[in-house]
Amino acid sequence: MKKSIKNLCCLVLMMALTFTLTACGSTQNSDPAPSGNGGQQNAPASGPAADVPETPADQPDTSPDSTGADDTRTLVVYFSRTGEQYTVGVIDHGNTAIVAEMIAEATGADLFEVLPVDDHYPMTYSELTDVAKREQNEKARPAYAGDVPDLSDYDTIFIGAPVWWGDWPMIMYTFFEENEDALSGKTLIPFSTHEGSGLSGFDRKLSSSCPGSTVLDGLAVRGNDCQNKQDSVRTAVNEWIAGLGY
Ligand SMILES: Cc1cc2nc3c(=O)[nH]c(=O)nc-3n(C[C@H](O)[C@H](O)[C@H](O)COP(=O)(O)O)c2cc1C
Repeated sequence: MKKSIKNLCCLVLMMALTFTLTACGSTQNSDPAPSGNGGQQNAPASGPAADVPETPADQPDTSPDSTGADDTRTLVVYFSRTGEQYTVGVIDHGNTAIVAEMIAEATGADLFEVLPVDDHYPMTYSELTDVAKREQNEKARPAYAGDVPDLSDYDTIFIGAPVWWGDWPMIMYTFFEENEDALSGKTLIPFSTHEGSGLSGFDRKLSSSCPGSTVLDGLAVRGNDCQNKQDSVRTAVNEWIAGLGY
């Protein structure tokens, strides 16, 4: 009897030991966490933390377009007329002015409008063509108003005007000649608005007037489009500007 009680105790002890060892093995096999991470699971790769890098709100923005327009070295100089214009009737925002403003917007440039000192230009189209033709025949140099910005502050200068009788308006030659020295060494980029004559040699004529400057390819825009197709003009301006490296 004593022997059978002893055998029973041994059996119970062995069973308890076997159960304990089996239970330990089962726990280890079901743990997915790699050893050494305290049992924490990795965040899923597709979770938000993996997809969207977070930038602290107080970190300074150093992206290229965060520099702002204050440190621009680009100027847009232009001449433009309101009143009655070819194919568009009476306008209160000149065609060339519209393109000049688009260029300034796209480049962060400053603007300078060449305005006649004594505005002798008529507001009716046919009278304006007469005055412009006379000035061209006389090689007139009409005076312009206002203080030209300090050109030493700029490396690149866009210069635009309407085509008048296949040429720059004479007042623009006043600007080129009076500022020839200050424009020397700069990059000049011409643009025109017109109703069929395109750039009319604006680039070549600008080079002749400012031989010390580098003149790049220009842009010609239909005056009518400036009033009536501004989206396509803006696209053309932006593509041209991008091609220039802006
Ligand atoms: C006096 C004068 C002469 C012009 N001569 C030409 C010309 O030779 N070729 C041309 O395509 N357009 C010519 N035009 C049309 C203008 O170039 C066009 O309407 C221009 O977009 C006007 O621009 P603005 O509103 O900035 O002054 C002439 C317009 C005027 C007023």
